[in-house]
Amino acid sequence: MASTYDAVVIGGGPGGYVCAIRLAQHGKKTLVVERDKLGGVCLNVGCIPSKALIHASKVYRKAKDGAAMGIDARDLRIDFARTVAWKDGITGKLSGGIGQLLKGNKVDVMVGSARFDGPGRLRVTKADGTEQTVHFADAVLATGSTPIQIPGFVYDQVHILDSTGALALQAVPESMAILGGGVIGLELGDVFARIGTCVTVVEALDRLLASMDPDLVRPVQSKQAKLGVQHLLGHKAVRWSKTADGKVDLVVTDKAGAEVHVVVDKVLVAVGRRPNSKDLGLETIGLQPDAKGFVVVDKQQRTAVPHVYAIGDVVGQPMLAHKASAEGEVAAEAIAGKPGASFDHLVIPNVVYTDPEIATVGPMLYELEAAGRKVKTGRFHFAALGRAMTAHATEGFARVIADEKTGVIVGVQVVGAEASELIAAAGLAVEMAATAQDIALTIHAHPTLAEALLEAAHAATGHPLHQIK
Ligand code: NAI
Repeated sequence: MASTYDAVVIGGGPGGYVCAIRLAQHGKKTLVVERDKLGGVCLNVGCIPSKALIHASKVYRKAKDGAAMGIDARDLRIDFARTVAWKDGITGKLSGGIGQLLKGNKVDVMVGSARFDGPGRLRVTKADGTEQTVHFADAVLATGSTPIQIPGFVYDQVHILDSTGALALQAVPESMAILGGGVIGLELGDVFARIGTCVTVVEALDRLLASMDPDLVRPVQSKQAKLGVQHLLGHKAVRWSKTADGKVDLVVTDKAGAEVHVVVDKVLVAVGRRPNSKDLGLETIGLQPDAKGFVVVDKQQRTAVPHVYAIGDVVGQPMLAHKASAEGEVAAEAIAGKPGASFDHLVIPNVVYTDPEIATVGPMLYELEAAGRKVKTGRFHFAALGRAMTAHATEGFARVIADEKTGVIVGVQVVGAEASELIAAAGLAVEMAATAQDIALTIHAHPTLAEALLEAAHAATGHPLHQIK
């Protein structure tokens, strides 16, 4: 049986389903092919479930640490299986919602694995092994990414877990080693440390979250250390074996090659993700990914092959859901022939949901320095902010970075409570080419955490208000 569509989107994650909705709204007869659940990694086994567990673990920890506020929670306990079930309820509801959205926009959904079978043709293999041919005018690759595997550390989801396995645990492990001190390693490290797991983070580089300015990472690292997290920096995992009592004897080496044994219940591997560009039959349409497996695209998300577009993790960093969605909208507009469709990298907020949260928009300071860009900065510490004190969350700071000459904001960085929410206003400021003075002249509600941005903007203009020069 064969069917014909104007546009086919392979992958129903935040890139693919958004692209499909827009395609249908532009009048295209559209199909989404998804082999698993709608919503992709982000909704089902990534952003949303991790944020649910981050929230639950914070509620637990806040109650446990509430003595200073007169809260006595000595008998507090967590039923982790119920926490995970609550999280699964949220992802189920959201995934169902996407199904409704697609249906409401008259987008067809086919469950199965798609492979190109020559130009303009796809073959979809369904779970029962049957195959269906789909003809299309335009196709969008939105196939996402998969956790990288370290040789010798095969994911069995019992001893060696990827993030999906870690988010599905039914009980709190007594101990866990996390390979990789990047975004996933620190976010999930926080979750398990907060609910009582003894966490060791093994990071190959000399620092955590290496792409961030170091002063943004420092408050996170020290809060983790206070929770008892051990950071083995400059260490690499080399092998593991099972102990007599079923634990994992993990062997890591330092830079000099000296071995250290870490015995834990679970090992979570979070050393990055690779693009899903294999087994798609790309050779049948003459599309060759780059050496790292990424599909190269132009500003309209076009690949080198006419009528084939690509969006999201499969086209490269940053691997972020909101970047994928934005690219999906651009691809849909390009396919529909709308003038002016173009992906702009200027404002892609980056949020790390650690405690405190880190949120940035625009380049890092070290990147600006390396590029020889002349900037002025203003910074304000949450410790001096009334609202932060009342929220019992005084770690961190906000920093506004502005062009030295024009005052136009180049970037904003926040490490502190609710940084993930505060960064939205900063993104708008950069997008609108606002100056530090514009933010300083904007009346902010008091008392709010957003005043950290206001005060940092005042400082960037050279006229700090609630801090001494
Ligand atoms: P990552 O790239 O953030 O961090 C991986 C870390 O592992 C790096 O620091 C690297 O030096 C280290 N590493 C690599 N090989 C190692 C080894 N053999 N032993 C020890 N350390 C090693 O990757 P991660 O955390 O896996 O996240 C993958 C992607 O998922 C990220 O690129 C991010 O885009 C996305 N993500 C985004 C989130 C957010 O926006 N809040 C949350 C979670 C993931």
